[in-house]
Amino acid sequence: MQVFLILLWTTNLARPKMPQGAGVQVFPPVNFTLTVSALAQVLLHWKPNPAQEQNNSTIRYDVKILSPVPEEYDTKRTHSVRTAALHNGFSARVRTLLLQEDLQMSSDWVKGQLPPLPGAAGTSITNLSCVTHVTVPENVSLHCTWLPGQGAPEDTKYFLFYRYEAHTEECPSYITDEWNRNIECTFSSTRIKPGEIGSLIVVHINGSSKRAAIKPFQQLFNQNAIEKVNVPRNISVSLEQNDLLATWEKPVSPFDKECFEYEFYLINLKSGNEQILKISSNSFRLRIDVTSRYSIRIRANHNHICRARGFWSDWSGIIYVGQNKLENSIAWIFTLLCVSTSCTLLLVTLICKINHLWSKLFPPVPTPSNKFRDPFPVDYE
Ligand SMILES: *[C@@H]1O[C@H](CO)[C@@H](O)[C@H](O)[C@H]1NC(C)=O
Ligand SMILES: *[C@@H]1O[C@H](CO)[C@@H](O)[C@H](O)[C@H]1NC(C)=O
Ligand SMILES: *[C@@H]1O[C@H](CO)[C@@H](O)[C@H](O)[C@H]1NC(C)=O
Ligand SMILES: *[C@@H]1O[C@H](CO)[C@@H](O)[C@H](O)[C@H]1NC(C)=O
Ligand SMILES: *[C@@H]1O[C@H](CO)[C@@H](O)[C@H](O)[C@H]1NC(C)=O
Ligand SMILES: *[C@@H]1O[C@H](CO)[C@@H](O)[C@H](O)[C@H]1NC(C)=O
Ligand SMILES: *[C@@H]1O[C@H](CO)[C@@H](O)[C@H](O)[C@H]1NC(C)=O
Repeated sequence: MQVFLILLWTTNLARPKMPQGAGVQVFPPVNFTLTVSALAQVLLHWKPNPAQEQNNSTIRYDVKILSPVPEEYDTKRTHSVRTAALHNGFSARVRTLLLQEDLQMSSDWVKGQLPPLPGAAGTSITNLSCVTHVTVPENVSLHCTWLPGQGAPEDTKYFLFYRYEAHTEECPSYITDEWNRNIECTFSSTRIKPGEIGSLIVVHINGSSKRAAIKPFQQLFNQNAIEKVNVPRNISVSLEQNDLLATWEKPVSPFDKECFEYEFYLINLKSGNEQILKISSNSFRLRIDVTSRYSIRIRANHNHICRARGFWSDWSGIIYVGQNKLENSIAWIFTLLCVSTSCTLLLVTLICKINHLWSKLFPPVPTPSNKFRDPFPVDYE
């Protein structure tokens, strides 16, 4: 009975759809295949049904990606390339669309799928995070960290690969955990183009162990979203009457200065007040309390005008500005105190001398009887 039902269902599938009124039949595409053409990349390919008549109509194909990320689109070609994380498999379906004047007809779907990448449950890495950085001569570095899977044996060795466009490369230098498993990787220079907008960086981490098959893991990153912006350059800060004036240069980047925004972190060192100001230009003027000393730091990020925001840059070095008037008055009081104390001491000494108090206060040490008599005694009487 079951077999019969399945057979019936299959024949139904194979039968073309007959739109009402028109004598046109729409047949599903044939030989639908899915091929992994690069890391995290699938080539979907099919052929027109040889039985399909075209006459005065247009043939297109409706493609529906079911997993890992649902997506639907139509194309007049018979192939299409998709980038997706493939570790949990991939499935899609396609059907023929026949467009005749204002009539649109569609065939049944044909389905294709890729199985999940092999490996034991829990052996995949988790918590992958990656950051890129534009280095000075227009190169981009890539740094990733991850955690070993809960079920990964102690002897697991992980390997990280990145793919950007057609270039795939393995990590040249890893950092390991206490079990000597790789958990961190740095590419000091990559083929990532710093000026591109919205391009994807594919990261693939597989592994090997004597005790278990390690299931690979893949993740796609928008290159702009994981870029850690460089620090603003040439920051100069000055005081002009009651205003603080700051200017700086945009960070090292192929993007124009209009593409950046800044945070200005100001601390009044006298009152302890902290302020973070968002600034969209390269200079800044602010009324401040001139009796206070301030510390200033600036950091940068891309604004949303040119591309997706990345990570904030590190803070710049601290710049101090202004004189703390409180410190000054303390110094002044201290000096005054010193001067007056010494004056008083001097005065007291003088007075003591004048009143012959000196000797009374500090009587001379009694000396033993004179060995030498005065040879010329003078009679004062
Ligand atoms: C389409 O054209 C073919 C000949 O080119 C003809 O034999 C067929 O009947 C036509 N079909 C329809 C539905 O018009
Ligand atoms: C579909 O594939 C089969 C077997 O690989 C082949 O014999 C057939 O010619 C293909 N059909 C088309 C339309 O290419
Ligand atoms: C296609 O359409 C034109 C007019 O729209 C008609 O003259 C012609 O016969 C049609 N051809 C077929 C094969 O249906
Ligand atoms: C790893 O990711 C999970 C879920 O995203 C989170 O709950 C956990 O705190 C993360 N662990 C670490 C060490 O970051
Ligand atoms: C920057 O990249 C170019 C080629 O892309 C390479 O020749 C050069 O050595 C790189 N510079 C650094 C500092 O990595
Ligand atoms: C890991 O993946 C790379 C790239 O696909 C492949 O060349 C390599 O053989 C894989 N290693 C293991 C241990 O599966
Ligand atoms: C920073 O200032 C120095 C000296 O004032 C100058 O040579 C350099 O070109 C400046 N850098 C930028 C990026 O403007």
